[in-house]
Amino acid sequence: MDMPGALLYKQNIGDRRYRKQEVQAYCFPAIRGGVCPVSSEQDLFIRAERLRYRYTLENGVVEALSGIDLEIGRGEYVAVIGPNGSGKTTLLKHFNALLKPSAGTVIVSGLSTADEENFPAIRRQCGMIFQNPDNQLVATTVEEDIAFGLENLALPSRVIRDRVCEVMRALNLSGLEQHPPHLLSGGEKQRVAIAGVLAMRPQCLLMDEPTAMLDPAGQREVLEAARKLNSDQGINLIHVTHFPEEAALAGRVLVMDQGQVVRDGPPVEVLTDISLLHRLGLQSTVSAELAFLLRQGGMLLPAEILHDWELSEALCAFALKI
Ligand SMILES: Nc1ncnc2c1ncn2[C@@H]1O[C@H](COP(=O)(O)OP(=O)(O)OP(=O)(O)O)[C@@H](O)[C@H]1O
Ligand SMILES: [Mg+2]
Repeated sequence: MDMPGALLYKQNIGDRRYRKQEVQAYCFPAIRGGVCPVSSEQDLFIRAERLRYRYTLENGVVEALSGIDLEIGRGEYVAVIGPNGSGKTTLLKHFNALLKPSAGTVIVSGLSTADEENFPAIRRQCGMIFQNPDNQLVATTVEEDIAFGLENLALPSRVIRDRVCEVMRALNLSGLEQHPPHLLSGGEKQRVAIAGVLAMRPQCLLMDEPTAMLDPAGQREVLEAARKLNSDQGINLIHVTHFPEEAALAGRVLVMDQGQVVRDGPPVEVLTDISLLHRLGLQSTVSAELAFLLRQGGMLLPAEILHDWELSEALCAFALKI
């Protein structure tokens, strides 16, 4: 556990001997200082313009996305939050061409998702991780499972072996090669699913509530693994989550409501906008919520409290003044 991700977690959640600058330095090296808009065409990875999507039902249509304009740069770590049914999953599915826009455009790495010829290239660049790891594991051993996508590309077996080895090391799965996936813990299963996607060498992981079915240890494993891929390899993370503490770890947070992006900015701005979050039926981090209540009770606390160490620093400073 002596890696930056583990250190961050200890400092961030478990261990009060944190150092704020260190945490920030570990958090987002790939995107530090950079929130939208993307600075140049070259840095641009995903662009959605006037994106609309309608599901067609027997008795009508549901407009799930209602005109989204969005740019995401290479290497960005973006969290997407919003109430149930606000369109988060639908948006994510547009980024690996699982869905085609009903109107407007989505361009991924210069390729339009409306053009079926681009589907294989787009899906190689953007791999999707779903909520339930059991639905993503198909083979009888971990090694075979991770190799599954590569086998479909008909790569030479030596290349497949090397890549499987490489991603197993990156996700701390070495030693589990011959293990049946169904006997793994939830966190291990989700890391195997990520390894399978990663073996395809994507630029981007699209994660739809990847920790929703995991216990705190499993959540931590998956988050640390994903964050390390972002910080060490510059892999984009687009992470849909209902956990504010997870969204707070991203470099940028999008808030969706009724098929639109209603807020887009760094976590310290978006997740401290408590009135907006409450209006949408959402919550911020425990520390931000508590700071909000204390401010309402008359305590003078800074507006930017999001993490527990920020709240504890502010409370200590307040206590010293009285
Ligand atoms: N396959 C489908 N067929 C018809 N309507 C759908 C389908 N999938 C989603 N919808 C509708 O589209 C809208 C957006 O759904 P979506 O799943 O994208 O929301 P979400 O923000 O991911 O919600 P959740 O937080 O519950 O996962 C909802 O009104 C939903 O009922
Ligand atoms: Mg969803």
